[in-house]
Amino acid sequence: MNTRRQQILGALEIPIWVLRGNEPVPASPADPAGHVPLAAPSQRTQDEPVRAQEAGAAQAGMPRLAGLDWDSLAHAVSACTRCGLCKSRKQTVFAAGHPGASWMVVGEAPGAEEDQHGEPFVGQAGKLLDNMLRSVGAARGHNVLIANVLKCRPPGNRNPEAAEVAACSPYLLRQIELAQPGFLLLMGKFAASTLLGSEGSIASLRGRTHQVEVAGRQIPAVVTYHPAYLLRQPEEKAKAWADLKLALRTAQP
Ligand code: URA
Repeated sequence: MNTRRQQILGALEIPIWVLRGNEPVPASPADPAGHVPLAAPSQRTQDEPVRAQEAGAAQAGMPRLAGLDWDSLAHAVSACTRCGLCKSRKQTVFAAGHPGASWMVVGEAPGAEEDQHGEPFVGQAGKLLDNMLRSVGAARGHNVLIANVLKCRPPGNRNPEAAEVAACSPYLLRQIELAQPGFLLLMGKFAASTLLGSEGSIASLRGRTHQVEVAGRQIPAVVTYHPAYLLRQPEEKAKAWADLKLALRTAQP
């Protein structure tokens, strides 16, 4: 393991594991940060594609999103009253970053700080997310777009309700359709269940590459733990690091 990687893992407080037999992981010459090189496509494990539109996105009563560009979509979200969360929100939280970013991170829902600032992942979990992204050469607003399943804060940071996810997920799908990311990092069970249509645990969904189909386009996706969970269970950070390495093998940010 090179020093840079040791520094990054130290910064993330991730325990350093050494491969059995001490096999070094080669860093590509074009990759001075020591990122894990891309695996050959034949080495990838891919599930059957999931049509995200069929994975719980209720369309009834939805304003037509198909013709909306990014800014019009953000405007539609800011005016949304499709569920009760509009009554308690300070503001909607649309996204951080821009369409065209190679990676898209999908989280759960805004918390108090996000509701205050109007940007996803600006609290403690966001700091950890930024560190995780930095460790693989990615950064919000640069090569990563960040959005949540819900655009409004659930009061008291409770879990999203199924009706709220159904009301809000068409916005996420249109975001993905417009942004055309090359890769999706699904953080936590709500991102995974919304886009994969699976109620499986994170433990059962992580460790392989899924395919999410949005508007006829298949996008590789990796599931990992939500940063807020990692703050509560730091011993799981090593698994999140393994997920980031799988993400890197799947698509360069
Ligand atoms: N958790 C999320 O899932 N999203 C945010 O924006 C903040 C915390």
